Amino acid sequence: MKAILLAGGSGSRLYPLTQVSSKQLQAVYDKPMVYYPLTVLIASGIKDICVITTPSDLHRYQKLLGNGSQWGVSIVYREQPKPEGIAQAFLIAADFVGTDGVILMLGDNIFSGGDDFRRAVGGFMEGAVIFAYHVKDPERYGVVEFDKDGKAISIEEKPSKPKSNYAVPGVYIYDNSVLEIAKKIKPSPRGELEITDINQEYLKHNRLQVWRLSRGFAWLDAGTSSALHEASAYIGTIERRQGVKIGCPEEAALVRGFLSIVQFEALVESMPRCEYSEYLRGVANEWHRLQALP
Ligand code: G1P
Repeated sequence: MKAILLAGGSGSRLYPLTQVSSKQLQAVYDKPMVYYPLTVLIASGIKDICVITTPSDLHRYQKLLGNGSQWGVSIVYREQPKPEGIAQAFLIAADFVGTDGVILMLGDNIFSGGDDFRRAVGGFMEGAVIFAYHVKDPERYGVVEFDKDGKAISIEEKPSKPKSNYAVPGVYIYDNSVLEIAKKIKPSPRGELEITDINQEYLKHNRLQVWRLSRGFAWLDAGTSSALHEASAYIGTIERRQGVKIGCPEEAALVRGFLSIVQFEALVESMPRCEYSEYLRGVANEWHRLQALP
């Protein structure tokens, strides 16, 4: 399976932070926002990743993420000249997806807890899998309605009268037919190719599975300055309490076996002395300790 990581948009709701840098490069506690969805992809076992961003931000992402080989993955880049909708990602990256299935992740979605995405990717066969998460303000999102048996029966984009409190997070798993579906959908009244229209098409043909994320799972929004601050505070609280980091691609690559311990330690040695590299040294020490156990 391939992955698209979408990091476009103008980030206007984070002004003035986004005047000189992209929204998905802003700091969420101790790392750039894009590290969080990227780590979900690596932890899910995905090795082929296409980052889509704006022409003006492209070089910044290339500087930060490179070709991915430092994490044992491949990262390529495509440009989205104008923010014309999430579903446009499948038109822009069609050649990258080729004949494979694809997971689309939005670069501003931050998750913590659980292994739902890894299990969903591992068990994926055909059709589409999306997720549902209980929120207080569903009108800001794609909203999914369930019948009494828990089967999804409708999905609406930012409805003024939501039919449930279940919002759809920015993680979508599709089989290859998404490329054809994306070619057929038309721009919505807000002028965007909506990801919800793609999901509705799968739903119409009974090919959509909606996976409810449990209460213990955290899906954080970082779309406004106050939400960004709250997301940082949340991540900081959990990291300090547990002594483990969320959204750490190096660690995920080691755990997935994308990097050997030798490669991992060489990568850590190339970093400056800082809290982040100190943490990774601790990860390596723990790895050696576990190996030495009888
Ligand atoms: C987009 C999607 C929406 C989804 C949300 C998740 O919203 O259109 O369906 O629930 O991402 O972050 P937007 O970022 O355009 O507000």
